[in-house]
This record gives sequence, C-alpha cells and structure tokens, in this order.
Amino acid sequence: MLSGKRLLVSGVATSDSIAAAVMERALRAGAEVVVAAYPRDVPAVQELLSDVPGPPAVLALDATNEGDLSALEEELRHRWGRLDGALHAIAFAPRAALTSVMEAPAGDVERAMRTSVWTYAAFGRLLSRMAPPSGASLVGLDFDSARAWPVYNWMGPCKAALRSLNGYLARDLGPMGVRANLVAAGPLRTRAASGIPDFELLVDRWKRQSPLAWDPTDASSVADGVCFLLSDLARAITGEVLHVDGGAHAMATWLQDPPAEMQGKA
Ligand SMILES: NC(=O)c1ccc[n+]([C@@H]2O[C@H](COP(=O)([O-])OP(=O)(O)OC[C@H]3O[C@@H](n4cnc5c(N)ncnc54)[C@H](O)[C@@H]3O)[C@@H](O)[C@H]2O)c1
Repeated sequence: MLSGKRLLVSGVATSDSIAAAVMERALRAGAEVVVAAYPRDVPAVQELLSDVPGPPAVLALDATNEGDLSALEEELRHRWGRLDGALHAIAFAPRAALTSVMEAPAGDVERAMRTSVWTYAAFGRLLSRMAPPSGASLVGLDFDSARAWPVYNWMGPCKAALRSLNGYLARDLGPMGVRANLVAAGPLRTRAASGIPDFELLVDRWKRQSPLAWDPTDASSVADGVCFLLSDLARAITGEVLHVDGGAHAMATWLQDPPAEMQGKA
C-alpha cells in the first residue's frame, strides 16, 4: 500500500507510541521511513529500533524549534530530495494545563498550543516545500474534541484548534496536491496518556460506550487508519477527521449507561 513512499514519522518515544505502530505498519506496507524523535528520546528510540531490519534513521527534532525544523528539512533533502508523507504524532502540555482550565498559567497554555498545534502547521510547511508533483499526505492525531471531558483540560482546546487548523492546511496545501487529515483515536495507554490525570476514566468510558471492542493497549488499528490516509487509496480525501475509536464518538452517551429512569427501557 505504501511501496515507494518516503515518509517522515514523528512522535516515536516508546514501543507503546502510536507512531511506533505506524512506523512498523508503514515499513511492512513497503514505505521507506525516517523517524524524528524528541532529542532526549533519541538514544532510547535507536535502541528500540535496533531489532527492526535495516532500521530507519532516527533524527533529533524539537518540533517547536525553527532551527531543528530547518535542519530536518535539510537532512531530508540531502537523503531523499522529496517527501511523500508525514505523520505528526506530537503533543505536550505542562501538568498544570492538564489539571485545570482556569488555573493553568498562560505560559503553560502557550507551550501546549505551540507544541501540540503550531507544529502541525510546521509539518504542513515542510510538505509544501518537499512534496513531489504527484502530491503528498500529512496525517495528525486527534482526540475527540467535540465535547468537554471530565479530564483532559487544555489538551481539549488544543485538539479543537488542531481540528480547525487541519481544514486550513487542507485549503492551503490542496492546490499543491498535498492532503491534510487527522485520525481521531480512542484512548491508548502511551507515555503521553500517562501524563493525563485520571486517564483511566476515558478508558472506562470507552469500555461502556464503544460498540466495537476497544483495546487501550493496541495502537495497530489506529496505525492502519494512518497508513490508509498516507496511501494513494486516500488520494481524494483531505480536511477529514477519520475516527478510529471503535465507534464511541457516534454513540449517544447514555446508550449503554442509561439514566436511572430509563433502566430496563433502553
Ligand atoms: N494515547 C491516546 O490515548 C491518544 C488518543 C488520541 C490522540 N493521541 C495523540 O497521539 C499523538 C501521539 O501520542 P501518543 O499517545 O502516541 O504518546 P507518546 O508519548 O508516545 O507520543 C507523544 C510524542 O510527542 C513527542 N513530543 C512532545 N513534544 C515534542 C516536541 N517539542 N518536539 C518533538 N516531539 C515532541 C514526544 O517525544 C512523544 O514522542 C499525540 O498527538 C496525542 O495527543 C493520543
């Protein structure tokens, strides 16, 4: 499905990372992959990939840093000369921004937005410069931001902004043949998830609400959705949000957890 594609995969930190599952599926589907990891994570990611046959190169990237972004572009130009697709799997918010919307200091909110939202536009800019004439595909990762969750706090508005930005990138990149799409994943136990206070409430919600069984330890279904969007099978899809969440987003909240007065009637 991805044979001949040269892809940048960001956001690999541990074997549980969604990006690690994407990298594995993309390689299996025939892609050439370069991994971008946060500088502090590079040695661990190199160790993680040492078992992968012909392991992908691991480049250091703080995606909030313009110098790192320029160095990444230079390295990809030198290595490949073009880029057919990129996975943006980057998010971060300081603890205070994940704990309270009203008490979080403005600086923490700015850092969360810059890391989790602005960097998606930076990846769009990279593809606008490096896509071949046949086009390219940018994919980011969303968590359903249509409603307020009992947890998640400023990461909710970050994801809502990401979703809005996705439409603007589709607008600006479309004339170059570059697509921009998001995959809205159900909850998965990753390092980023472990930083979200009471994340298990989301896992519990999915257990009750998702019509398909949802395994919070298995990112492979999300990775397959990402690979589809990176492939030519999705050549006419842009500005889209593909839910790979077991169907939870489509269910009314009380369907499997009816209010007391509805017990026995639903
Ligand atoms: N885990 C979930 O339940 C879930 C659900 C929906 C969406 N997502 C999204 O999936 C994406 C990947 O997260 P994950 O759950 O795989 O966790 P993860 O911790 O494995 O990945 C997050 C990655 O972001 C990277 N990162 C943070 N700041 C960075 C920076 N300044 N520059 C470069 N990289 C930086 C980290 O190094 C890490 O590799 C995120 O956008 C997250 O919001 C996660």
